[in-house]
Amino acid sequence: MNLILLGAPGAGKGTQAEVISSNLNIPQISTGNILREAVKNGTEYGLKAKAAMDAGDLVSDDVVIGILKDRIARDDCKNGFILDGFPRTVPQAEALDNMGVQIDKVLEIHVEDETIKSRLSGRRVCEDCGATYHIEFNPTKTEGKCDKCGGNAVQRKDDAPETVIERLKTYHEKTAPLKDYYEKQGKLETVVGQDTVEATSKLVLKAVGA
Ligand code: AP5
Ligand code: MG
Repeated sequence: MNLILLGAPGAGKGTQAEVISSNLNIPQISTGNILREAVKNGTEYGLKAKAAMDAGDLVSDDVVIGILKDRIARDDCKNGFILDGFPRTVPQAEALDNMGVQIDKVLEIHVEDETIKSRLSGRRVCEDCGATYHIEFNPTKTEGKCDKCGGNAVQRKDDAPETVIERLKTYHEKTAPLKDYYEKQGKLETVVGQDTVEATSKLVLKAVGA
């Protein structure tokens, strides 16, 4: 199954992508994670992406489309994949269509802006393996240390409250129009993600037929 997860920053795309990935045994492809890795490694496109990411803005379509193209060409995508954070603009969605990539379903995780602000201010991410936590809803066993690898669990730079406001603005302006785009293709399904992770996972797994 080729699946797109759509939703505002902090809606739980990454969290639910992991759940789907382990249930359906298909890879999670997060353009945000790929970009953060590139920033960390100081690669050419990492350097280009950093300023936009830190400001809560989008990285340019051509950079992200290039990354995505390379990633889905890899062997592990043969039986399907979950796109987490791509597409994020209409031109990105059109690029996917023009590549001839068949999308089976677009799942929107709908969460209100106010809930998002509290989720993102409490999020902690492992610097080494990328595992995600929340100081209240999903805390690490030892404060500040990743349960999985022992790395430092820190706040993402773009989770600062003023940057979250910018990211939400960017989402509503540039990404939310994709709901219409995929509704017209008959592929959109919306689940409400306001409840706990477990409750949302049930809805999500049902929607993808797992
Ligand atoms: P990206 O990393 O994709 O960030 P995002 O879309 O802003 O989404 P997040 O990762 O913040 O949220 P999420 O929905 O994955 O939520 P999570 O599961 O972590 O992108 C970062 C930047 O990269 C962008 O701003 C842009 O600059 C650039 N970029 C990336 N892709 C791009 C593209 N295609 N084009 C252009 N630029 C691009 O959950 C959030 C928190 O809430 C966690 O702490 C979690 O534990 C907690 N939580 C989750 N679900 C629940 C629940 N049900 N109840 C309680 N807590 C919950
Ligand atoms: Mg994420």
